[in-house]
Amino acid sequence: MSARSLLFIPADSDKKLSKGMAAGADILILDLEDAVAPSQKGTARGRASEFLRAHLDRSKTQIWVRINPLDTPEALLDLAAVLSARPDGLMQPKTRSPEDVTRLGHYLDALEAQHGLPHGQTRILPVATETPEAMFSLGGYARCGPRLYGITWGAEDLSSVIGAITNKTADGLWTSPYQLARSLCIFAAASASVAAIDTLFADFRDSAGLRAACGEARRDGFTGKIAIHPDQVAVINECFVPSEAELVHAAKVVGLFHDNPGVAALSLDGKMLDIPHLRQAEKTLARKR
Ligand code: COA
Ligand code: MG
Repeated sequence: MSARSLLFIPADSDKKLSKGMAAGADILILDLEDAVAPSQKGTARGRASEFLRAHLDRSKTQIWVRINPLDTPEALLDLAAVLSARPDGLMQPKTRSPEDVTRLGHYLDALEAQHGLPHGQTRILPVATETPEAMFSLGGYARCGPRLYGITWGAEDLSSVIGAITNKTADGLWTSPYQLARSLCIFAAASASVAAIDTLFADFRDSAGLRAACGEARRDGFTGKIAIHPDQVAVINECFVPSEAELVHAAKVVGLFHDNPGVAALSLDGKMLDIPHLRQAEKTLARKR
């Protein structure tokens, strides 16, 4: 079952770490990158690996780590510190192309062997739109193989690199460069047959705004969303499962095709249904919890 909510925790914060497992998130992402000051990186690595070792039952909540970008010396220190503590996966920021993910996969091949972990158990979630060059190779993530868990996107690093003054309009909507990044993330994930994870909603006190953003994300094909505050988790979990009405409708569609074998065009409540509608209904039912 793919994750609905992925909650970030700055890994240098004991206090926030202590609230992590109770937050109800499908995945916790212990951050070693931009939510941790350079002077705190070592502390954060130590705390992340302690936290992983202290929580070996991952049946309700997986524990992932966001490492530093692969082209920094920090990244290898991150891997060396946390891999033996069995993270379920790594979020990989600022990827420049699918080859960055493949390279991380090679490092993981070696580290899993060194620590006696099953080969391939550590999954990878790239933040695939944080560098301008990454935007031109989003169609290639299927090459990364089975370690690839999903694809997510971010607007903050991208806008700061390209020198934008803002990435949102006065009404709070993404401006066109970030709408493009968001859309391409969905297509990139679909073309690699992996989960599409929506970026964070920064205004963590605005739960109505978060709910609206989740609705739009799910409408467009995202299957989960990043959270940055525990209060966001319940809203995200609720929004990324199909409603009762959606399930009822999907069951009707599937039932109708089942009752009419050999017929690919049908009608329900005055609307045409064909094979794409059947596939969509099957996907909806598969996401039932
Ligand atoms: N994970 C776990 N606990 C968290 C948390 C998180 N992401 N964010 C806040 N909390 C805790 C706080 O420590 C606080 O605990 P307390 O009640 O014991 O004091 C409680 O939840 C309420 O927090 P609140 O006061 O509402 O927020 P804050 O001002 O302490 O923190 C942020 C706001 C944005 C700094 C914080 O939510 C955060 O660090 N988010 C993650 C940032 C991050 O990792 N970014 C990287 C990806 S962009
Ligand atoms: Mg970033």
